[in-house]
Amino acid sequence: SAPVITIDGPTASGKGTIAQRVARALGWHVLDSGALYRLTALAVLREGGDGSDEAQAARLARHLDARFESDTVFLGGEDVGRLIRQEAVGNLASRVAAWPAVREALLARQQDFRRAPGLVADGRDMGTVVFPDAPLKIFLDAGVEVRAQRRHKQLKDKGFSANLDDLLQDLRSRDARDRGRAHAPLVAAADAVTVDSSHQGIDDVVRQVLDLWSA
Ligand code: CDP
Repeated sequence: SAPVITIDGPTASGKGTIAQRVARALGWHVLDSGALYRLTALAVLREGGDGSDEAQAARLARHLDARFESDTVFLGGEDVGRLIRQEAVGNLASRVAAWPAVREALLARQQDFRRAPGLVADGRDMGTVVFPDAPLKIFLDAGVEVRAQRRHKQLKDKGFSANLDDLLQDLRSRDARDRGRAHAPLVAAADAVTVDSSHQGIDDVVRQVLDLWSA
């Protein structure tokens, strides 16, 4: 089957940007798995839920009417690309992502993104659970302060208001939730290459990943 490069790491480590750039350089497809969890969270919110009901979240995940386009994503025909980037949706996503039934409901859908000539998949468990046979696995890390600053800038650029101290708090609790959950916790795959992007720009990281792939 088609090759996969997995890029896992904590929130705001730059996975999304790196994945897009690597995919573009190789002419491959891309899977933003976090968007599926964000869409599930949005669907929960729209039903008036708060993420505490595993069965509800899993049902919505299983029946997610999601469509990905080059630079946005649709839920039931509505362009929600901007909406799902809000911190409230991201925070709820990290809650619903802790439910095993939600992860199970999204598993096959993620694996369906694997198509020739190749796939770059970004998330938390791409290398450990979803594509364990991927020939190249990257674990992208960065210090929490650097990540908070990046997220701050990203939100501002999108026109959202954001407070750096609040973001730092949010990132810390999301890290704790992602790393501490019983099912598919955030951890580097045994055969992953760890890249720390704290002091590296996007171009450097992209080049490093492409070098690893062509090595
Ligand atoms: O952009 P950011 O890293 O903050 O979030 P994301 O990648 O869009 O993912 C949103 C949430 O979904 C994360 O906080 C994770 O808890 C969860 N997630 C996951 O559990 N497994 C994945 N493969 C991707 C995301």
